[in-house]
Amino acid sequence: MAHAQPGIFALGTRSHHHLEFDATAGGPAVLSALATACGAADAVSGVNLVVGFGARLWSEIAPGEVPGDFGAFDPVEGPDGFVMPATQHDLWLWLHGAGPDAVFDVARSSAATLSAVATVAAEHPGFAYLSSQDLTGFEDGTENPPVPEAVTVATIPDGEPCAGGSVVLLQRWVHDLDRFGALPLEEREQVIGRTLQGSVELDEANQVPDSHVSRVVIEDANGEELQVFRRSSAFGGVVEHGLVFVAFSRDRARLDAMLERMAGGGDGIRDRLTRFSRPTTGAWYLAPPVELLTGRR
Ligand code: HEM
Repeated sequence: MAHAQPGIFALGTRSHHHLEFDATAGGPAVLSALATACGAADAVSGVNLVVGFGARLWSEIAPGEVPGDFGAFDPVEGPDGFVMPATQHDLWLWLHGAGPDAVFDVARSSAATLSAVATVAAEHPGFAYLSSQDLTGFEDGTENPPVPEAVTVATIPDGEPCAGGSVVLLQRWVHDLDRFGALPLEEREQVIGRTLQGSVELDEANQVPDSHVSRVVIEDANGEELQVFRRSSAFGGVVEHGLVFVAFSRDRARLDAMLERMAGGGDGIRDRLTRFSRPTTGAWYLAPPVELLTGRR
């Protein structure tokens, strides 16, 4: 059985740094530079390093280990000109740990190690806000599965290409906190679909069809809820701020369906949250299991 990258499930870290790269060398050269970067991160206590590949680069590295529906991010469109933009890159590194200093050092040294094979295309430093809250003040992650279950939710099943790996969605969302904060509490709760205090799901009488919860709770054909494992963090300063959304899944289809429902593409009902926050990036990555990353089986 292949093993998921442990950093995916390392909870409680307060400092985050996401780096997206464009490759300037071939897949094997990138993989070998990554081995050095991962080794250096291991040596710095407390910093987790998770690696993901865009479809183009991963197909070069392991053509037989590409899930059938895995590809580059395409823009997702909805009513009123709403668009989730595509900003796909080749490689993604997520560093997270207890404090910003060690995370910064490892991010910088990883980028230096990779500089011969890839250039930094985007970076998103992030932080844990209060007790796992989004900057809107609402708890983010209430319905995340607990870790033993999260491994099943987030990793590709045995027997499938890239088994033990994860499909990753990375999107940077910029909030309009002034507009959101100007809403009365009841309306803010309706946007999310949960209460601000206690993060309790609103009852049927108060749950609106375009609340975030109404849009992202989806079920399979047997009525079983389709879950993902979210590891988002807050980012930014006083001028621009929001959420670096990161989700791990055993398949891409459920995340595609959530995005489509948020954008309102299918039924025209756009997630009310998208009236107060807009995505500025969007990419799919594949976080391979440790065995495929290191060549150790
Ligand atoms: C501006 C961006 C976003 C913000 C601020 C946000 C915030 C939240 C909050 C506050 C909750 C309720 C508490 C919880 O269960 O975690 C939630 C739930 C959830 N969100 Fe988001 N979210 C964002 C984007 C997304 C995206 C892009 C997806 C998927 C593609 C997504 C999927 C989910 C799921 C699956 C749940 C759990 C629903 C449930 O089972 O009740 N979210 N989000």
